[in-house]
Amino acid sequence: MCGIIGYIGDKQAQPILLNCLRRLEYRGYDSCGIAVTAGSIEVYKDAVRVEELTRVMPKLDGMAGIGHTRWATHGEPSQVNAHPHLDCSGNIAVVHNGVISNFQLLKQQLTGEGHNFISQTDTEVIPHLIEKYYDGNLEKAVETALRDIEGSYALIVLMAGEPKLVAARKDSPLIIGIGDRENIIASDVPAILDYTDRVIYLEDGDIGIITKDGIRVRRHGTKVNRKEHKISWSVDDAQKAGYEHFMLKEIHEQPKVIRDTLGEYIQAAEPVVDLAVMRGDIESVLILACGTSYHAALVGKYIMEELLRIPVRAELASEFNYCAQTLARTGAIAITQSGETADMLKAMKKLKDMGCLVLAITNVVGSSASRIANQTIYTRAGPEISVAATKSFMAQLMVLYWLMMSYSKVDARRLTDLIMGLRQLPEKVQQVLDNEDKIMEGTKHLSGYENVFFIGRGINFPIALEGALKLKEISYIHAEGCAAGELKHGPFALLSENTPVIAIVAQDNTYEAMLTNIREVKARGSPLIALAEEGDGAIGQLADSVITVPKVDAIFSPVVNTVALQLLAYYTAKHRGCPIDTPRNLAKSVTVE
Ligand code: G6P
Repeated sequence: MCGIIGYIGDKQAQPILLNCLRRLEYRGYDSCGIAVTAGSIEVYKDAVRVEELTRVMPKLDGMAGIGHTRWATHGEPSQVNAHPHLDCSGNIAVVHNGVISNFQLLKQQLTGEGHNFISQTDTEVIPHLIEKYYDGNLEKAVETALRDIEGSYALIVLMAGEPKLVAARKDSPLIIGIGDRENIIASDVPAILDYTDRVIYLEDGDIGIITKDGIRVRRHGTKVNRKEHKISWSVDDAQKAGYEHFMLKEIHEQPKVIRDTLGEYIQAAEPVVDLAVMRGDIESVLILACGTSYHAALVGKYIMEELLRIPVRAELASEFNYCAQTLARTGAIAITQSGETADMLKAMKKLKDMGCLVLAITNVVGSSASRIANQTIYTRAGPEISVAATKSFMAQLMVLYWLMMSYSKVDARRLTDLIMGLRQLPEKVQQVLDNEDKIMEGTKHLSGYENVFFIGRGINFPIALEGALKLKEISYIHAEGCAAGELKHGPFALLSENTPVIAIVAQDNTYEAMLTNIREVKARGSPLIALAEEGDGAIGQLADSVITVPKVDAIFSPVVNTVALQLLAYYTAKHRGCPIDTPRNLAKSVTVE
């Protein structure tokens, strides 16, 4: 996935493009570049971060330009593979996010026609195709070029001497921010918040023609109207607000995120949400997701099975795409923070082809997932900038709790307790955050290890997976999450005094079995850190150290445990001096399969 930006207006484009790229860096950060025009096109790009590019680049003159921050797919990160890419004449520059699947064939044809390629990227065929079809009308040339292209794209085209930008999208997000005598095109909302809160979401197949005073959208050669939306996120939401990293800020925002996400429902005396996917004679539920959202899906399975008493499957969206089964009487839920994960979008389309109704749970208004779904419930996490998901996961859990309580089969008394428990969660999460210093101190030594196991059972098994994922992605320590019962079936072979185990101990029907597992681990000499509820006297006798979390109903234990493990991962990565918000090789939203 990459971030793209385009500016046209009455100001110098270079500083605005660089500022927007900084805000898009979470989408990819192995190289970046910009092109501006004031007559001819000037390009500056390299395999460096935006900060470095800004420091070393000369001043470029021009009030129209495009920019790109890259997450390499075709060709290693290098200056020549960085975007923008040019045609032979150097008059047409293109930035692109997505994958052109037939680029080899196009490259061969264009080479035969005399075009000269210098990079290994798929993108480079786009400016050459536009050059081939250009006969004085840029938008017509782009339209014709796109007919030859297979795959996914969000792209912006800049041409020397043309007072406009041409943008197009298919299966990759693209928005247009409407300013005063200036307009900005971007992959995502946080990029433009410094300049405007008015946006248009382009749809698949749209071509946008943007000048400093106007925006036209065309589709299959005809003009279409796209509604203007007002963004509720503020600039502050997308800034660090005094925290050293976005991740730490986002961890600390979780009490607010819980309140905001539940806000519109929690005032109601009882949870009542009408879900199309749950109507009719539904016999089972399938939840699909990727990455951290998949861990929310797994927690959702436990919540639903307990409250609804129906079979629920949680599956990786990427793997669902290979499953041959047909689904009958199944309600489908797609969980995706960004709403743009390629594997997820493919899986959602497959579900709809199978005749399933799909509910999307996403954080991004107007995202592709929300367009494909039959119904969408939005989480209210605000923009999440750090690559490692934290507050968006929390918001997903809140939606799952509330939705499932709406359909709960438990008795009235239990339901009242659950509603009470849910209302107390912001306070409980705050208590974990108030324990931050102790968590930081207690886990300092973890940064010296190279392998760590996380174990849990029941509803905290997914939290063991999530704890391990957080630790590995930001600290580069190899971490594995395990169902505690599975330790004996293999991972035991790796236990030693050099392999710490972090055990999540909840006060539910898994408690005794977890204590047994902890004893087994200790007998193999592994250092053991337990995550346990306050007041658990037994655990202190067994574990080498204990991180305590506040008492909550066991069904909500994933919430407090997750926050403690986020802090553990954060401080371990900090001790190791890792680039926490932008871990190597990763991207915030994976828009390629
Ligand atoms: C990437 C991100 C993860 C995220 C996953 C799924 O890998 O780095 O943080 O959990 O994608 O993304 P989604 O937007 O579909 O929830």
